[in-house]
Amino acid sequence: MSDEAIEKTLRAGEVLKKVAKEAEEKIVVGAKILEIAEFIENRIVELGANPAFPCNISINSDAAHSTPTRGDERVLKKGDLVKIDIGAHIDGYIADMAISIDLGDHGDLIKASKEAVFNAIDQVKAGVNTAKLGKTIEETIKGYGFKPIVNLTGHGLLPYLAHAPPSIYNYATKKGVELKEGMIVAIEPFATNGVGRVSERNECEIYSLLNPKPLRLRELRMIVQEISERFKTLPFAKRWINVSELFLSKLLREGVLREYPVLSEVSNCAVSQWEHTVIVEKDSCRIVTL
Ligand code: CO
Repeated sequence: MSDEAIEKTLRAGEVLKKVAKEAEEKIVVGAKILEIAEFIENRIVELGANPAFPCNISINSDAAHSTPTRGDERVLKKGDLVKIDIGAHIDGYIADMAISIDLGDHGDLIKASKEAVFNAIDQVKAGVNTAKLGKTIEETIKGYGFKPIVNLTGHGLLPYLAHAPPSIYNYATKKGVELKEGMIVAIEPFATNGVGRVSERNECEIYSLLNPKPLRLRELRMIVQEISERFKTLPFAKRWINVSELFLSKLLREGVLREYPVLSEVSNCAVSQWEHTVIVEKDSCRIVTL
């Protein structure tokens, strides 16, 4: 990996650290989730980076891919378990992190995913197999009496690609892949007191460019051009662009865009999450977002 890649990834990580710390104070009962998301996204820009994806604010049994709508009036409530998943990039070099904030009685559930990520990070070095990391994550979470979410994974990070191979499962898989020196990976365990799976909810606010193929309608071409220039292949929020529901569904049907529906725990139980980005080194790793 080039010095440029390392330097820009580390800078993106510095931005996230700062933003996460500032945001944490705003995660209180009564706070508007749209204001929190906009604060985070604006601060990322003010600090010299760009959002790598929309600020995810997933609450209680929602595990991932929840971001406010335009004009969202929802507020945080007493008892909520709030996950903030944020990404920043500099010239495409991405850092990705997530924290959980407890507005209720979810202390142990949060401890489980937080401890799991650090136990996994302790084992990261060149040559480690991702199956070993998954086993550590699973054992840590089960040690608290909870279950990992088996169909949400950590992942590699490549320029302008927020979810690159390899997938890092949050349980002991039969076969994993070896991490190599210089790889940038995000490790993100999710813990739940439910059955441990998520499924798509019929709600979607996040999209990304999949296949910018030629389109007949001029209006559609203009939208695709704007998306391509502003976000390249990175995910964006519906509230970030001006596009009608009709055009949006056309672009999805044509396979030009892909969608990221909200992922929710299937038994409707609470989910916690903790995530850090690391650079794999010969004998250990460097945590980008800590
Ligand atoms: Co991630």
